[in-house]
Amino acid sequence: MLHLRPALETLDELLATGAVGSFDFAFIDADKTSYDAYYERVLQLLHPGGLLLLDNVLWNGAVIESANTTVDTVALRALNEKIHSDARVDMVLVPFSDGIMMVRKRD
Ligand SMILES: C[S@@+](CC[C@H](N)C(=O)[O-])C[C@H]1O[C@@H](n2cnc3c(N)ncnc32)[C@H](O)[C@@H]1O
Repeated sequence: MLHLRPALETLDELLATGAVGSFDFAFIDADKTSYDAYYERVLQLLHPGGLLLLDNVLWNGAVIESANTTVDTVALRALNEKIHSDARVDMVLVPFSDGIMMVRKRD
């Protein structure tokens, strides 16, 4: 089913209507400054062992250029660091294409 509207509205509605812990897989690939908000919601929607992929986490290499402080770069850099130390998940950053973050929700 397609939900064509702001993603936060869709995710919040799913959370409010009983979908917590019911998803096997999610893919985040939209506006970068909202990635963290999507991440927090998707973690609730996944069941333990569920898989999340996030696209563009290297942002063409900008995330490792400390002088790059565009809002998208800062958002992605902060989320990468957050996920790296997030005890709720296992993660690996796959460095192909523009960077794919693979996240498994822990049991
Ligand atoms: C890079 S494209 C995604 C392509 C898609 N993952 C695919 O592989 O075909 C980014 C998409 O995110 C959508 N988008 C951006 N901000 C959004 C938001 N706040 N809520 C929902 N969709 C959004 C854009 O309209 C665009 O279609």
